[in-house]
Amino acid sequence: MLKKIFLASDHGGYRLKELVKDFLNKNKQPIEDLGCFSLDAVDYPDYAKLLSDKLKNDLNSQGILFCGTGIGISMAANRYSHIRAALCTTAEMASKSRKHNNANVLALGGRIITDSLATDIVNEFLNTDFEAGRHSLRVNKI
Ligand code: RB5
Repeated sequence: MLKKIFLASDHGGYRLKELVKDFLNKNKQPIEDLGCFSLDAVDYPDYAKLLSDKLKNDLNSQGILFCGTGIGISMAANRYSHIRAALCTTAEMASKSRKHNNANVLALGGRIITDSLATDIVNEFLNTDFEAGRHSLRVNKI
């Protein structure tokens, strides 16, 4: 059974969240959508908190956050000590964020990247493992 992936966005990331949600549903990936649920303006720190709270109950779980650029929502999420959120604009960054940084949250900019790049990035993020070893030492220093 695949572990559940939590999704959350503000209005700037809403459209891309819906697209990624469809992609994950088609791939039978269990998800929980924490909102937002429309294009009405909301504040991204509130959605970063919702997702961070969920990950606190299961430190091995993962999430994907979306806002217009991915910047604000990743900044907000990284205020929580159990969150390692990686804002990625390439599949290579997503891969390295897992292998080297053990990122537990992927952040995407709904107004920055194309839809097909977004699904490539998500695929890479969810299918790449942490390499541990020397990287554990560094991640533990964060
Ligand atoms: C909302 O307009 C926008 O500021 C937000 O989605 C995000 O890009 C912030 O970093």
